[in-house]
Amino acid sequence: MAWRKILSEGYNIPERVSIFDTTLRDGEQTPGVALTPEDKVEIAIQLDKLGVDIIEAGFPITSKGEQKAVSDICKLGLSAKICALARCEKNDIDAAVDAGVDWVHVFLATSDIHLKHKLRMTREQALTKIAEAVEYAKSRGVIVHYSAEDATRTEHDFLMKALKVAVDAGADSVDIPDTVGFGIPAAIRRIVSSAKFVTGKPVAVHCHDDMGLAVANSLSAVEAGAEIIHATINGIGERAGNASLEEIVVALNMLYGVKTNINLQEIYKTSRLVAKLTGVWIPKNKAIVGENAFAHESGIHVHGILGSPETYEPIAPELVGRRRKIVAGKHSGIHSIDFLLKERGLEMDKVKAREVLERVKALGDMGMRVSDAKLKEIAEEIVGESRDSRTIFLKEFSVVSNTNCATARISLKIGDEVITAESLDHSPVAASLSALLNAVSRKMNIKLIDFRIDATSYSPDLKCEAEVVLSVNNSQEYVGEAVGHDPAFVTVNAIITGIEKAVQSSRS
Ligand code: KIV
Ligand code: ZN
Repeated sequence: MAWRKILSEGYNIPERVSIFDTTLRDGEQTPGVALTPEDKVEIAIQLDKLGVDIIEAGFPITSKGEQKAVSDICKLGLSAKICALARCEKNDIDAAVDAGVDWVHVFLATSDIHLKHKLRMTREQALTKIAEAVEYAKSRGVIVHYSAEDATRTEHDFLMKALKVAVDAGADSVDIPDTVGFGIPAAIRRIVSSAKFVTGKPVAVHCHDDMGLAVANSLSAVEAGAEIIHATINGIGERAGNASLEEIVVALNMLYGVKTNINLQEIYKTSRLVAKLTGVWIPKNKAIVGENAFAHESGIHVHGILGSPETYEPIAPELVGRRRKIVAGKHSGIHSIDFLLKERGLEMDKVKAREVLERVKALGDMGMRVSDAKLKEIAEEIVGESRDSRTIFLKEFSVVSNTNCATARISLKIGDEVITAESLDHSPVAASLSALLNAVSRKMNIKLIDFRIDATSYSPDLKCEAEVVLSVNNSQEYVGEAVGHDPAFVTVNAIITGIEKAVQSSRS
């Protein structure tokens, strides 16, 4: 809503925008990504929970698996409309319609660059092909969405002609793809306004992020009246990706006051699922879904946040299914440390808290991140408390791996009992995780809700961070974190930290 007044002056903004999700089509075209039909079904179910209006499930002509995925998704009976991509070719359109979709998205490039070097067609031939394909798709009884590929590098009048030909042939809506991210907000506004005027149909945009403008361009399309926005979860897609769905819908909701059907609280869950199944990890600083999007370290910011979160948070983390995170580090102030210690049941006087702060800063100066476990260790050392209040101790841990598999062996002391478990899996991390869960589940009911491990380094000295979300004996969810050098060991420590938190809090 923030900019409603400015936007009511001279803009033509729709009340509501439909979200056309192309994670399963353009998102899957991310180099190196390939989803199985089962992965696609799992993502489609989550996209439907998220509330997207249209799911572009794939490009059926490309492979048998793709055809199966689209057809399996069509059979799910989701609320979203299911769409598939097709070139302006009969076989492509048949493959899409035969998969059972509601919408067919036909595309043919209109820029001279594509016509000359890729399609080897004249403009006239292109117009004929568009008309024939749209008419044929319509004759098969589906909703037809036409995209003028490379629209932003197409001569304006010819682009309008192509869009008009498509609607005259029966297209229900048209799309303006900024195929190579060449558009700027002002140009997109102009193209969308003309397209609305010329076609009289709902207009969509499909923006790529080659210049980092995909979200800005999509929003400027809405300013000019675009009713449909193509986007992908986490902004994945060809090259630098597509416009990121989460950024667009939050901006529409919070800044523009434009409604979508999106259930914002499902955003983070959807983002994590897509990251997990595509293997495309989310940068820490990515808006809305990045690990740091709601994390605060610096003393001034944490002080502000503790006074009122709106000082440094434009939206509440819970709105998008997330939690705020206060992090201890080199930039911490005494307010952060006080807060973190209290939150962990480690209250102490001001002098001791300052000592903890100095130790945290010293670690930061050495380039180290201070995990939860480390902060607790420092605090306990300073108050001189024995660390034996812990419930779980790692007594022994070993992993042996080769190119095919890994075996992990773990011994834990839980209370008075020593439990040992062994597991074989495809990697050291997976084997360690499974050995640990085998051992722990003999004593308690542990549910691992989420798991993330990052290993980053620009030197041979690998740095790993793991974060897990878990519940113990049906408790609420707890977050366990660990940092270190070895991924398997860091994984094990993160889980033990999470369990310890759950157990300690059930005691207090
Ligand atoms: O980027 C693009 O132009 C596309 C089209 C198929 C719409 O993905
Ligand atoms: Zn695209």
